[in-house]
Amino acid sequence: MKQIIVGLGERSYPIWIGERILASIGSALNDVAFPKKVAIVTNPTVGELYCDQIVDSLVASGRQVSVIRVPDGEEYKTIDTLENIYDVLIERKFDRYCGLIALGGGVIGDMAGFAAATFLRGIPFVQIPTTLLSQVDSSVGGKTGVNHPQGKNLIGAFYQPKHVHIDVMALETLPKREYVSGLAEVIKYGIIRDVEFFRWLEDHRELLADRSTDALAYAVMISCQIKANVVENDEKEQGVRVILNLGHTFGHAVETLAGYGVIKHGEAVSIGMVMAAQVSARLNLCSAEDVKRIIDLLTYFDLPVTPPDFSVTDYLSVMQRDKKVKDGVLRLVLNHGIGSAELHQVESLDECLGELLI
Ligand code: NAD
Ligand code: GLY
Repeated sequence: MKQIIVGLGERSYPIWIGERILASIGSALNDVAFPKKVAIVTNPTVGELYCDQIVDSLVASGRQVSVIRVPDGEEYKTIDTLENIYDVLIERKFDRYCGLIALGGGVIGDMAGFAAATFLRGIPFVQIPTTLLSQVDSSVGGKTGVNHPQGKNLIGAFYQPKHVHIDVMALETLPKREYVSGLAEVIKYGIIRDVEFFRWLEDHRELLADRSTDALAYAVMISCQIKANVVENDEKEQGVRVILNLGHTFGHAVETLAGYGVIKHGEAVSIGMVMAAQVSARLNLCSAEDVKRIIDLLTYFDLPVTPPDFSVTDYLSVMQRDKKVKDGVLRLVLNHGIGSAELHQVESLDECLGELLI
């Protein structure tokens, strides 16, 4: 078992990463003096697979445990579902000295985290992420929230967990499309921060495709370490944290235009990272060889690299609603070679996209 500390002063917390560590959640929570009365928020899919071992460990550590099941799916990451969570907490007399535990992927983690941030103005919470995407990205860093009919994650709060508990064995039951979607975010970390890690991913691609436990534990650990480091330097996304959004501006446009759920988040990020790399190459920020390496690695895992066929006008109009737009000006995270990235205002982006989308 490996441990990473996200160093945020009084909001610091440990991330445990290991194999078959779900049963040690009780002792992990004792280490951070987590409350004795807790509710697990999960969905039927993940609950069926992993809830019993979590409940057993929590009960063995002297905790009183409730389970709140919400429906599975991004379409349920809403204020309505949140209200159902509050209803149960109120009905079961949860007070400020109780805690919430998110057991599931990014949808559960974001929603349970926001419930914890807002119930009684904030109660402690813990993340037990069970998808690759949530293990390397959404469970770390404290972004929580729900969707609004007008857009994804429009309602939310920065609220850090007390502990993140990552068991890579949980990834064995993940459907392939969900798994490779998470790999896109893993590859993102190599592109934005660590060329050595990118090379390691190239060298270990077969093991990763086979979900080798050792390879996965290493890839998750380096990803979390990079994310922790970025978040420690910029918790509320006023500066460097924006690089975590490589490929996301174009990726969100792909998700929106295709219709939510048709193209998965990681698949859209894969397409977006290739677009970003191609724009970078045009601006001489990276070489054609860098672009090829990125495309080759994503393609190896069967991730899509070609944008769906929408017009430049459609893409640009959705991209204008990106959270990085400032004073009406669209800015993109672009890679500098492999291993570094920065936010750029791109002149004549319409022409550039026009040429790339042909
Ligand atoms: P998800 O939570 O919808 O999980 C995908 C599917 O896998 C679901 O059907 C789920 O029930 C199932 N599942 C989860 N774990 C499983 C397991 N071990 N075995 C079998 N099935 C399992 O999707 P996701 O990709 O984990 O998360 C996407 C969400 O994360 C989006 O809402 C996105 O906005 C959010 N997100 C948040 C952040 C952040 O920083 N907070 C970052 C990235 C993404
Ligand atoms: N997923 C981007 C971030 O946490 O900032």
